[in-house]
Amino acid sequence: MKDNIQSIEKRALDDMKAVESLDQLDSLEVKYLGRKGLVTSFLRNISRLPAQERPEAGKQANFVKLKLEDAFRSLRERVVSMGSSQSQGIDVTLPGRYIPRGTLHPVTKISREITGIFSRLGFEIVEGPEVETDYYNFEALNIPRYHPARDMQDTFYIAENIVLRTHTSPTQPRIMEKQPPPVRIVAPGKVYRCDSDLTHTPMFHQIEGLMVDRDVSFGDLKGTLTAFVHEFFDEDISLRFRPSFFPFTEPSAEVDVQCVMCRGRGCRVCSGSGWLEVLGSGMVHPAVFENVGYDTGQYTGFAFGMGIERLAMLKYGIDDLRKFFENDMRFLGQF
Ligand code: PHE
Repeated sequence: MKDNIQSIEKRALDDMKAVESLDQLDSLEVKYLGRKGLVTSFLRNISRLPAQERPEAGKQANFVKLKLEDAFRSLRERVVSMGSSQSQGIDVTLPGRYIPRGTLHPVTKISREITGIFSRLGFEIVEGPEVETDYYNFEALNIPRYHPARDMQDTFYIAENIVLRTHTSPTQPRIMEKQPPPVRIVAPGKVYRCDSDLTHTPMFHQIEGLMVDRDVSFGDLKGTLTAFVHEFFDEDISLRFRPSFFPFTEPSAEVDVQCVMCRGRGCRVCSGSGWLEVLGSGMVHPAVFENVGYDTGQYTGFAFGMGIERLAMLKYGIDDLRKFFENDMRFLGQF
């Protein structure tokens, strides 16, 4: 009978090696330590042994019982922790998790689109400072101190001679001062005017263009801007040049494009006229060339300036300028 309890122990330990799940462990534990289990039955049968053998057999059997209980306990811990580490693993059947990605701001997108068109036409992209001197923002552009043309732009003054630039035109004299002709640049950036309502924000964006060389004519201005409008909107959009005034260009023209909403039939966006104003332009005024030391006998040039938000509104059919600056993700995410 002594051999018997040892062989039960050995079989139990062997069986345990094959355990892979809690279910297997449970039935194995019942098989050996349950109420009708092998170890339990052995203990119950000790009473049938001859009296002198009983103490030793009882001792042996209880020892085996404790040992197996211990072995089952630690095996149970191992099986449970194996199960939980499996549940921490990767479940390849789970649906993927959506990771929100940022998009370019519509002003940045349109700005890059516009500078892209001009750089394919051979223009270089440059930038100028937003905090500008009175000289570059006005005087160098033929707008003297008490000239009524200063009224066209409501200026933020930082100090007596320092302003937040009211347009991107100061990049014109800045570039020309630094290099001799030929010049072919576009300059995108922020501009500031003390003005705020449905169609005006105190900060907005413009793109300036400037081309100077021998024999640059008004025809080149028209051809360049027509090519731009056709590429930016589409081939079928007509445009017109309307006489206008800017102190730094002569002659000057504002460019209107056929209303992109109603195709010229007349609607709310174009106030029934069928046309939308998109940019200011003209031939560089000789006074500007003189300020930067260019020979007005040899060189001519054209310049233009356009509002980026305005072009973005027309292209995407946006009706309120302020939407660009409210940072509403539902609006910005559409572009
Ligand atoms: N700077 C002018 C404006 O802001 C636009 C312009 C630029 C006009 C260049 C002519 C030439 O309104």
